[in-house]
Amino acid sequence: MKLNIALLPGDGIGPEIIEQAMKTVKAVAKKFNHELQYEYGITGAAAIDKVGEPYPDETHELCMKSDAVLFGAIGDPKFDNNPKATVRPEQGLLAMRKKLGLYANIRPVETFDSLLHRSPLRRELVEGADFVCIRELTGGIYFGEKGRLDNGNTAFDTCTYTRAEIERILKLAYEFAAKRNKKLTVVDKANVLESSRLWREVAQEMEPNYPDIKTEYMFVDNAAMQIIQWPKNFDVMVTENMFGDILTDEASVITGSLGLLPSASMGIHTSVFEPIHGSYPQAAGKDIANPIATILSAAMMFEYAFDLKDEGKLIRDAVAASITDNIVTEDISEGKAYKTSEVGDWIANYISKK
Ligand code: IPM
Ligand code: MN
Repeated sequence: MKLNIALLPGDGIGPEIIEQAMKTVKAVAKKFNHELQYEYGITGAAAIDKVGEPYPDETHELCMKSDAVLFGAIGDPKFDNNPKATVRPEQGLLAMRKKLGLYANIRPVETFDSLLHRSPLRRELVEGADFVCIRELTGGIYFGEKGRLDNGNTAFDTCTYTRAEIERILKLAYEFAAKRNKKLTVVDKANVLESSRLWREVAQEMEPNYPDIKTEYMFVDNAAMQIIQWPKNFDVMVTENMFGDILTDEASVITGSLGLLPSASMGIHTSVFEPIHGSYPQAAGKDIANPIATILSAAMMFEYAFDLKDEGKLIRDAVAASITDNIVTEDISEGKAYKTSEVGDWIANYISKK
């Protein structure tokens, strides 16, 4: 099969981790006789420095003509500490999500048995935890009306959702739940927010269409508590944009490192695969960042964008083997820590030899 991929490394550790993921992708493509074609595009602070904007048209065109996008990370401290900056790297990520119509962000939370001791939670709470958070990605407060009044001394951000936006993400979440353990938790703040009340109204209308699936409703503050108290009680969770952003960072703690969690963003045009962690600028260029979240994002790319399940499985097996053999970076190592590039080489080599 022809695999036509766009690579957007972005900022910070982005280039290093994309490099490791590409070693893996190349090894898998070779093993299964796929014809791999790939092209690099600029985004984030790297693109601002070059052309003055974080998601230039040429990068968008590259994404549109590709079958999948593998994305590194975005963000640079020189913008974080300057509230007056008018262009920011993050705007590139948001523009990409909006322009590609990526309304669904799929963030699986799975644990590795050999890493259970790294979790700050007790082993018996975490062992076997396996759920998926589906985050709405192109609506809500991220994209609602925002501004300043009163000579800049009053600021507002608006959370807006339409019925159509809620229906399409809930439909996707129900489809996921149908393929998994048939439980859907709809997370909102319907006791306070009008937009949440519309979410709940729409979910309650759709619920009878999915009689095999148990629908559960949970307020977001309660969900934040239950995710770490009873992570095994969740199967598929669906929520609006900002709640999903916060809950998935929290959920990553369960597995022992933020460096392990991949994600897929899907919707109208080309799907994007990226780690859930950020650009980790302190580690940029040091060859110490954990490449596993990006390598697992590549596994999701094979499975979701190309429907190549065996390829995805082989990558997952290789990652699991590296963790079992303790060929891992400093964030999760016991004793000797391996470099980012060494972990990438080991995983790619495992795949080639299988
Ligand atoms: C994420 C990130 C982004 C978000 C930032 C970088 C804009 O935190 O993908 O979770 O808030 O969506
Ligand atoms: Mn986030």
